[in-house]
Amino acid sequence: MHTHRTVRKTRSLWWLLLLFTACRQEELPPPADQQPLPVPAHFPAPHYNFASNKPIPAGIALGRKLFYDPITSVDSSISCASCHVQTLAFAHNQSISRGVGGKLGVRNSPALQNLAWVPWFNADGGILHLDVQPLAPITDSAEHNFNLPDLFDRLRRHPQYPADFEAAFGSRTVSDRPFFLAMSQFMTQLVSAGSLYDQVLTQKATFSIDQAAGYALFRTHCTSCHSEPLTSNFAFARNGHQSSTNDEGRKRVTGDQVDFGKFRIPSLRNVALTAPYMHDGSLPTLEAVIEHYTQPDYPADAPIGTGIALNSQQKNQLKAFLQSLTDPAFLQNERLSSPFQP
Ligand code: HEC
Ligand code: HEC
Repeated sequence: MHTHRTVRKTRSLWWLLLLFTACRQEELPPPADQQPLPVPAHFPAPHYNFASNKPIPAGIALGRKLFYDPITSVDSSISCASCHVQTLAFAHNQSISRGVGGKLGVRNSPALQNLAWVPWFNADGGILHLDVQPLAPITDSAEHNFNLPDLFDRLRRHPQYPADFEAAFGSRTVSDRPFFLAMSQFMTQLVSAGSLYDQVLTQKATFSIDQAAGYALFRTHCTSCHSEPLTSNFAFARNGHQSSTNDEGRKRVTGDQVDFGKFRIPSLRNVALTAPYMHDGSLPTLEAVIEHYTQPDYPADAPIGTGIALNSQQKNQLKAFLQSLTDPAFLQNERLSSPFQP
């Protein structure tokens, strides 16, 4: 009897061990801080096809390094993070961005967040896939002012990058496919879903009276374009803001006059930190934006075509709601910050 029980015990332990090794074989133990983020339960299904580029810790880590490394610009002076600053929700506070040598670009650097849900990129929707987006800043003379062949040569000669490519993609070959897939693996991790607004949506917190009143105003006047929960439906619209840079907006891509002055509706998540506002960064504060929406202005699409009537209390309430879209955990998430020593 006694021997029998010992055998059974040993056997069940043996099974446990088998199960454990089976799990470990499927995925190597990754550095704990680069585990892929889960998709927030209150978000819709992502647009990005993760089946074609599944984020893994080594791929995320490589993309993160490349994002923060000025090696990606012609004179090693500018990285993606020069214009996309984590504490500003990966936006920048200069009205029009500046690249290598201080050269002025054409638009305001937008926040980078929840990019896996974005169907087309930039204020005019001119780029159709996240995987090719980094090509634009790398080659733009007012951004990194560089080219892929020379960049890849640099990475091949680097003491660490070939090993990083191998860890992520199983080969030391530095080429466009692994480069862009790694960039996307990191960029899809820029998920902001922890604001007070998110906590209210998931019933973990409640708004103050002013925030609640502002939320009601937002749902009445703003969500036809800034739809929930991503705070954008990503369509192109005229919001009545007259471009200070003669930017044609969506027409630049389609060539169609009906698209003149239309811009992709931006997400408002972390909007309290992404000043100045609009494609040209010409509105300095949230107050100025709210003021703008109350003016009957340059042609705008419904429902704001004739300006939204708000009294000063309502303006403050709307601002209080917009501030509830700030996500401190995202802005401070160490997994998304520079991997280099300051
Ligand atoms: C000199 C400043 C600058 C640098 C450097 C820069 N960007 Fe940008 N980024 C911008 C601007 C400006 C836009 C908006 C362009 C537009 O709307 O036409 C933008 C747009 C984007 C977008 C689209 C966001 C959206 O919601 O549509 C992504 C993604 C992005 N950048 C990633 C990167 C990556 C990755 C790098 C590094 C390879 C990088 N950027 C380097 C200024 C910069
Ligand atoms: C008809 C669609 C539409 C409606 C309705 C609308 N917006 Fe917008 N919103 C836009 C577009 C388009 C832009 C970008 C315009 C540009 O870049 O020039 C924008 C930009 C913004 C920005 C600047 C974001 C940034 O990062 O630069 C804020 C803030 C904003 N809207 C808040 C609101 C609020 C608050 C309301 C309701 C009172 C509202 N919007 C209603 C279409 C709309």
